[in-house]
Amino acid sequence: MKFFIDTANVDEIRKAHERGMVDGVTTNPSLVAKEGKDFRKIVDEIASFVEGPISLEVVSEDAEGMLKEARELNSWIDNAAIKVPLTWEGLKATKVCADEGIKTNVTLCFSANQALLAAKAGASFVSPFIGRLDDVGHTGMELIEAIVQIYSNYAFDTEVIVASIRHPIHVYEAALLGADIATIPPGVLDRMVKHPLTDIGIERFLADWAKVPKK
Ligand code: G3P
Repeated sequence: MKFFIDTANVDEIRKAHERGMVDGVTTNPSLVAKEGKDFRKIVDEIASFVEGPISLEVVSEDAEGMLKEARELNSWIDNAAIKVPLTWEGLKATKVCADEGIKTNVTLCFSANQALLAAKAGASFVSPFIGRLDDVGHTGMELIEAIVQIYSNYAFDTEVIVASIRHPIHVYEAALLGADIATIPPGVLDRMVKHPLTDIGIERFLADWAKVPKK
């Protein structure tokens, strides 16, 4: 399972990278806006140490505009994956990007049929947003199960990025379902390592070790 980091905060990405947990990065306009920095600057900084795919999102709503942005963003770094929304315009742009060898991450996916369309369009990645589905009373993880099954039925190459992850259980359930990638907010990644019994265990071992005669 690959771990992408879902943030545009370079320090957080660096921290996760030093821990060996960064197979890629996903950003979106909201995450970039939080940083209050020039987008290109952020992207260059991330690309200076992240080798895996870095998702950069377009903001146009028509295919032509999306393609213009996609080509531009793709020229910034070697490892861009262009995020386009799951609309007909986005799918048209995805198809052209696939033909031109530009990697895409089709985002804002909320149904299995949408994911099927993304795969048909030749998307490199699809991003189902599970937390936002949970928020409106649907079980986001059921969508992941369906997409993983459908993609496996037809051996689609599109990789599933479980997105809008809110807590460690989301990562655990995504892993059980065999999702290709989880894009994890830094705070959730931090919490994944924590267990009170680990802390208590270390404390006890150290206390006992102090009792061992040293020579
Ligand atoms: O990167 C897209 C996605 O992960 C957004 O998550 O928490 O805004 O629903 P959220």
